[in-house]
Amino acid sequence: MPYGNVYPCSCGWIKGYSFGNIFEQSYEEIWNGEKAREFRQKLYDNDFSLCPGCQNLEILEEINSSEPKLISEPPERILLGLDEFCDVKCIFCRSENYKIDTKLIPEDKKDKLLEILTPWLKNAKYVKTNAVGEVFASKISRELIKNIAEKFPDIKFEIITNGIQCTKENIEELNLLGRISMMTVSLHAFYEDTYNKIVRGGNYKKIIENIKYLSELKKTGKIERFEIHYTVTSINYKEMIPMLHFVRDIGAKIRFLGLDCSKGCEDTYKKINIQNPMHPDYNKLIKTVHLPEFMNAKDIVIQGWEYFTGLEPISLKDRLKNKLFSVMKSDSV
Ligand SMILES: C[S@@+](CC[C@H](N)C(=O)[O-])C[C@H]1O[C@@H](n2cnc3c(N)ncnc32)[C@H](O)[C@@H]1O
Ligand code: SF4
Repeated sequence: MPYGNVYPCSCGWIKGYSFGNIFEQSYEEIWNGEKAREFRQKLYDNDFSLCPGCQNLEILEEINSSEPKLISEPPERILLGLDEFCDVKCIFCRSENYKIDTKLIPEDKKDKLLEILTPWLKNAKYVKTNAVGEVFASKISRELIKNIAEKFPDIKFEIITNGIQCTKENIEELNLLGRISMMTVSLHAFYEDTYNKIVRGGNYKKIIENIKYLSELKKTGKIERFEIHYTVTSINYKEMIPMLHFVRDIGAKIRFLGLDCSKGCEDTYKKINIQNPMHPDYNKLIKTVHLPEFMNAKDIVIQGWEYFTGLEPISLKDRLKNKLFSVMKSDSV
C-alpha cells in the first residue's frame, strides 16, 4: 500500500496494524516477522483486538481446529495499492486541492519494484489493483502490472478502475487480455449530469464506451467476473433503479457501497451522506430501495442489498427529537 506498508487486511479493519515495510525490510522479515506472527497467534487465540472483521471469517472454524502455524507460505492473493495517483477527483474521495505525495515510493526504489515484489508474488494466484488510486492513469501502476503479467504468466488480475482509461488498447498494452478474473468499474450515476457532479474531471461518454467493450469481453468469457461499484449518496440515490437495468443489460453485477468519510472530504460527507437518518432525503432513499424493482434485484446486487433494504424510515417525531438533542449537545459544549 502507499509508502510500502504491508497490511494483512483492509486498512479500515486493522487500524493501521502493519506487518512491515517493503522499502525497508526483506520479504521474510515482514511476512514471517514478529508482527505477522503476533497477528496469526491472536487469531488462533480467538483474540480479535487487531482485526474485529476476522471474527466473521468463514475459515475461522478451520483455523480453530488446526495446529497454530505462525510461519506462512507467500500469499495467494495480493492487493497492490502503491500509487495514489488519479486522473479525476471524485467528491467523496479527494478534496479539490488534493495533492499527490511524490514521496509515496522512494526515488531509488522506483525502478526496483518488480524485484522487491518478486518474493511476494511467487505463490500468488491473484493480484488486485489499485485500491487507492487509478491503475490506468498511474505510470508506476501501469509499468508494474505489465511487468508482473509478463514475468508471472499464471497470475490473474482483479482490476478496479474508474473506467475512463480502461480501453481495449490499454488492456492489450498491459498484457491483461484473457488474464482478468474480475473487472470492477466504478460508475456512480446513470445519467451524465449526475456523473459529472460526482466525478470531477471525468468523461462519461468514454466510460460508457469502455463498459460496452468490457461487456463484450464478459460475454465472450475473456473476463470471469464483471462488477459495477456505485457509492450511494444524496446526489445519485434516485438512479439506483435505472442502474440496475443497465447492469443487467451489460451482463454485470453491482455493489452499492455505503459512503465513508475520507480525509479532506468531511464537509462534502456531511452534505451527501444520505445514510444518516437526519439527512433530509433519508426517507426518500428508504422508499427507493423498497420499490419492487430494487427488492427483486437481489440476484445482481453483490453488496448493499441487505444493508439498504434493512434501513428503517425515521418518523418526524424522532427527527425533531434528534435535532433538539444535537442542539442541546452543541449548546453545552
Ligand atoms: C478509492 S477507489 C480506487 C479505484 C478506482 N480509482 C475507482 O474509483 O474505482 C476504490 C473504490 O472506493 C470508492 N470510494 C472512494 N471514496 C469513497 C468514500 N468516501 N466512500 C465510499 N466509497 C468510496 C470508489 O468509488 C471506488 O469504487
Ligand atoms: S474514487 Fe477512484 S477515481 Fe475517484 S478520485 Fe478516488 S481513486 Fe480517483
